[in-house]
Amino acid sequence: MPFVDSMNSIALTFCVIVLAVHGPQTWALDRGFLGNRNSTPSGEGLCASSITIHGYKCQELEITTKDGYILSVQRILDGRVKVVGNVTKEPVIVQHGVLVDGATWFLNRPEQNLPMILADNGFDVWVVNTRGTRYSRKHIKLDASSQEYWYWSWDDLVAYELPSVFDFISKKTGQKIHYVGHSLGTLTALVSLAEGKWVNQVKSVALLSPIAYLKRMTTPIGAIAARSLLGESLTSMGIAEFDPNGVRVTDFIHNSCDKYNLNCNDLFTLVTGENCCLDKSSFSDFMKIEPQSSSTRTLFHLAQIVRTDVLSKFDFMRPNINMLHYGQPTPPLYDLSKIPKDIPIFMSYGGADALSDIADVKKLLSDHFQDHEADKLSVQFIQNYAHGDYMFATNAHEQVYRNVTSFFKRNF
Ligand SMILES: *[C@@H]1O[C@H](CO)[C@@H](O)[C@H](O)[C@H]1NC(C)=O
Ligand SMILES: *[C@@H]1O[C@H](CO)[C@@H](O)[C@H](O)[C@H]1NC(C)=O
Repeated sequence: MPFVDSMNSIALTFCVIVLAVHGPQTWALDRGFLGNRNSTPSGEGLCASSITIHGYKCQELEITTKDGYILSVQRILDGRVKVVGNVTKEPVIVQHGVLVDGATWFLNRPEQNLPMILADNGFDVWVVNTRGTRYSRKHIKLDASSQEYWYWSWDDLVAYELPSVFDFISKKTGQKIHYVGHSLGTLTALVSLAEGKWVNQVKSVALLSPIAYLKRMTTPIGAIAARSLLGESLTSMGIAEFDPNGVRVTDFIHNSCDKYNLNCNDLFTLVTGENCCLDKSSFSDFMKIEPQSSSTRTLFHLAQIVRTDVLSKFDFMRPNINMLHYGQPTPPLYDLSKIPKDIPIFMSYGGADALSDIADVKKLLSDHFQDHEADKLSVQFIQNYAHGDYMFATNAHEQVYRNVTSFFKRNF
């Protein structure tokens, strides 16, 4: 069954990603030491643990999505430097990627991290935590410990989650909104725009480590996926929540490493690329708080892109089930060529990024952005940057965030 094999191998790819951000040496220790990372310590939110302590005004909010998930969102109303005069602040959504949460943005000092830089530049900053991550595990009727809670893929972030976030912020501020996303937060943005979601509510869009196509990954991990190695899959084990810290997933990953003789010690580099500029202590803090859960379906959906090189809705892999969901035997395609040509877009991609491969980004640009209005598209390439650098490199404020800020300040 070559098809099942290739799905399994792709599942391994993403398991390996999880392992990579964790590292096996610390695994057992962390589990005992920190307990369940998915529980919120004594109800303390991200504002208290990471934001107000630095002198920023921060508000904890909840946004309920159209499909019932209750997201935790931090609004940073004021930077440390008060903006003088009568100005209306422009809102910015800051959206993290898969298997991490909003806390990742705050690993570095205030003058180095993206949300605080935006706040200090007079923006009204909204940090979103995607469903299933530590601070966003509530639902109007489902419990995060139930399978049903996890029956979603990134299609649902596009269809329900992001539109609810935009609606909420539009209503609160009465303004058009800037958006900056990393990794999966770029794919969901691109697909949203192609689907005509929030096009009238957004002012401009910044994409860091853009992901759309994934087939051209040249890393050993990509090669492993292509060679179809794995025998056992998570879906056949019936796991709907992909909890990287859970016993079943960690066992699964350990077994896979043994079975295929993978050097699981240096997987972070193997998977995200050779990050040039991560600070040792920030990195160890990162390992303490991440990775976070996602749905197994989301990882499989990403895996399907690796395999097919086509952007479509989640493939249930049985014609009759696809029929049930979509009224057709195969999943409907997403067409990124439908992204409005006049939406201001900034993209930054790195030459050392193993997930957002140069060749995949080039395909994205040449297939869908050739006829984007020239003055509405800026693309930055940073030779020595990899996937993790865009989240918390010590020089990201100089290399990237300064450009993002001035891009948002431009009058389009
Ligand atoms: C701020 O400016 C708006 C219009 O730009 C005006 O309606 C409002 O009264 C001003 N507020 C103050 C406090 O000056
Ligand atoms: C980024 O900023 C630098 C200056 O800090 C500038 O030279 C460069 O053109 C900018 N790139 C983009 C794509 O905005």
